[in-house]
Amino acid sequence: MNDTAALYGTLRRIAETVGRAEPAGRVAHYIPVLAEADPARFGMALAFPDGETIGVGEWRHRFSIQSISKVFALVLALAHRGEHLWTRVGREPSGNPFNSLVQLEYEQGIPRNPFINAGALAVTDELLDHTDQPCELMRDFLREESGAPDLDFDQRVADSEAAHIDRNAALGHLMADYGNLRHPVPQVLHHYVRQCAVEMSCEEVARAGGVVTRHGLRADGSRLLSRGDAKRVNAIMLTCGAYDAAGEFAFRVGLPGKSGVSGGIMAVVPGRYTLCVWSPGLDRRGNSVAGMDALDRFTTETGCSVF
Ligand code: DON
Repeated sequence: MNDTAALYGTLRRIAETVGRAEPAGRVAHYIPVLAEADPARFGMALAFPDGETIGVGEWRHRFSIQSISKVFALVLALAHRGEHLWTRVGREPSGNPFNSLVQLEYEQGIPRNPFINAGALAVTDELLDHTDQPCELMRDFLREESGAPDLDFDQRVADSEAAHIDRNAALGHLMADYGNLRHPVPQVLHHYVRQCAVEMSCEEVARAGGVVTRHGLRADGSRLLSRGDAKRVNAIMLTCGAYDAAGEFAFRVGLPGKSGVSGGIMAVVPGRYTLCVWSPGLDRRGNSVAGMDALDRFTTETGCSVF
């Protein structure tokens, strides 16, 4: 199925069932501003490779993208720093919560993958070798890819996370102790927290994610990533994008995806569509309950999965 009207019909049916169901899950509490979210809210967007986008529910409402930003950080690190990244970050699923400390100690400061928090700190550190403003680099990239020149950091969210940073700081200091951070921990944390606080709508995330869907081509048609690196980003999204629920995500949705604790999930049908769904109620592993349900219904109804 690739007809816009039919896909819009699918999204509408999903919004009518999932979007109107009793809200499920709990909003994130460990970042106080995120705890203010209403779990009943729902939006979903689908972007085609040419940038045309359709959506339902609150698909134009902006939320802080949180860990979805880790995909864009990885894309930028691969584009600007290349293979070097893989000497300091793995690409295996962790099977552990996204902010777990134990595995990092067993594995001597080398994070399992770029999507757990420790891995994302290593990616930010890597980007700091390329620019002293990695979060601005990402924001400007997202502005260009989504066609939304006004998108920016939500300073309230960034401040709220910065005031409750102990666990991420512990991850950073442990990595620094093992020699796997080159820049001061506070500097790495500052950029990491701000990249997570970029505010975007489902429509904008779906458009910005097109770089992965188009196998490494930017919105203007120029090449940012090699096809090989775009394939690797998709592979890591599939195997690590939902953390310790990555198996469940593959089982139910069957697409490369990346979740965030504000309730967003970006998913990629390589070469065809980029999806983004948002609903703030989370399961105990930090993934949107309604978001997962919506993507499950989408791939089941359309048959559009990588399997
Ligand atoms: O560092 C954190 O904990 C948050 N800024 C991001 C975590 C996150 O989104 C995990 N995703 N489900």
